[in-house]
Amino acid sequence: MLANTIKAESINDKQFEYMNLIAEIMEIRKRGDKPLAFVRTYGCQQNVADSEKIKGMLSHSGFDFTDTPEDADFILFNTCAVREHAEDRVFGNVGALKNLKRKHPQILIALCGCMMEQEHVANRIYNSFPFVSLVFGTHSLHHFPELYYSALVDGRRVFERGNDDKKLYEGYPVRRDGSFKGWLPIMYGCNNFCTYCIVPYVRGRERSREKDLILSEARQMIQSGYKDITLLGQNVNSYGKTLETPLSFAQLISEIDSIEGDYWLRFMTSHPKDCSKELIDTIASGRHISKHLHLPFQSGSDRILKAMNRHYDRKKYLETVAYAKERIEDVSLTSDIIVGFPGETYEDFKQTLSLIRKVEFTSLFTFIFSPRKGTPAEKYDDPISAEEKGKWFRELLDVQEEIAAKRCSSMVGKSERVLIEGVKEKTGELNARTSGNIIVELDGDESLIGTFQNATITKARNWILKGELKTEE
Ligand code: SAH
Ligand code: SF4
Ligand code: F3S
Repeated sequence: MLANTIKAESINDKQFEYMNLIAEIMEIRKRGDKPLAFVRTYGCQQNVADSEKIKGMLSHSGFDFTDTPEDADFILFNTCAVREHAEDRVFGNVGALKNLKRKHPQILIALCGCMMEQEHVANRIYNSFPFVSLVFGTHSLHHFPELYYSALVDGRRVFERGNDDKKLYEGYPVRRDGSFKGWLPIMYGCNNFCTYCIVPYVRGRERSREKDLILSEARQMIQSGYKDITLLGQNVNSYGKTLETPLSFAQLISEIDSIEGDYWLRFMTSHPKDCSKELIDTIASGRHISKHLHLPFQSGSDRILKAMNRHYDRKKYLETVAYAKERIEDVSLTSDIIVGFPGETYEDFKQTLSLIRKVEFTSLFTFIFSPRKGTPAEKYDDPISAEEKGKWFRELLDVQEEIAAKRCSSMVGKSERVLIEGVKEKTGELNARTSGNIIVELDGDESLIGTFQNATITKARNWILKGELKTEE
């Protein structure tokens, strides 16, 4: 066995016994006809996928779900630590539960997820929010039923942060939020330690799920009607390194792609340092793989990329993009950018602007640097004021708006296959998405939600397209 091999363990039978015990207790303690849970998820799709496991376990424990915290017997926030703003929102929203707990003391309030893996956060919750009864981090998900049971029966506060960040668990019941759009985690954790990022500290080391388990989950999803499946990992390009028989991400996605059915396959996130030609070729020749690549570059300046510990430079990034554009017709590129990393000058920032002009991304996720406790960049000298960073940030948004508008205008008159996702509340129009992940709004019947349709693009408004349904599909 290779030194870095990580073998999955199954969540043990004991956890299922706890779920049954919780069901018995809640049958007595519930406030309404059925025990109800309110689960709110902050942060990225990894958290959404974790919440789907938690909801699976709660379902097994007899729970139904509500969108109204007032009606719930159990309230859980699954939290994100990636930026200060994300944490502040959680603290604010937890504070707001104080009155609810006073009014209905039998409600059990719990917090989990990335924030809770940080000792200083868990301590603050312990000291400042006495009405929070259960706290557990990402490494404790596999025994959530046991922890919840203790909080229910012992009447004491249960706080647990995992200490083994190399374990991988399988066998969770999963309750997916959507019926045609779904997340499929293929790996957990991250080994990259970008100097600004908290994720490796709160999610542990990189570990990949077995190929056969992923394939059978994908098959199940396709058979039950999922049309848009996103493979998830912090850095999907390094998939397979902890398996007994290592396998590349390109090999994995190409095996999934060979499953018959009418569906789109997406993935996120791809780290530019290991985005291989093999992967780009696989996307190009795939039958179901979306012509979309989310490839966060963070900064266009080599000096800053080095300080970020990203392990690629501007030249390598642009070469990868050029290859993707050459091989994948009409490829849609999206990215993440950090503005105002410590030590970044306006000259560095201009390099970021020039890169986005060169690549012409479909859309961008843009963030102002937020110092994270315990990361190297927290201690870096950061002389640029928040006000100045704000100015740069707005300049970036203006440039991107121009690019997105141009890109979208070039699609007018074209025909696109779209997946109808829902209805826009304000206008009653249908919301759809192209394979390149661009939103299209069109008139049509609600019964089309969850189906693929062909549309002609009629208008472009910034990064949103207007379209008309064609009738033949
Ligand atoms: N694994 C993914 C990113 C996960 S975090 C990747 O490597 O691309 C999502 C995005 O949040 C990052 O791409 C980055 O742009 C942003 N981000 C992470 N830490 C941040 C911080 N401390 N301040 C501002 N933005 C941050
Ligand atoms: Fe964070 Fe970098 Fe890992 Fe992405 S690759 S999760 S940015 S450390
Ligand atoms: Fe946030 Fe954790 Fe995702 S910190 S971005 S929820 S991995």
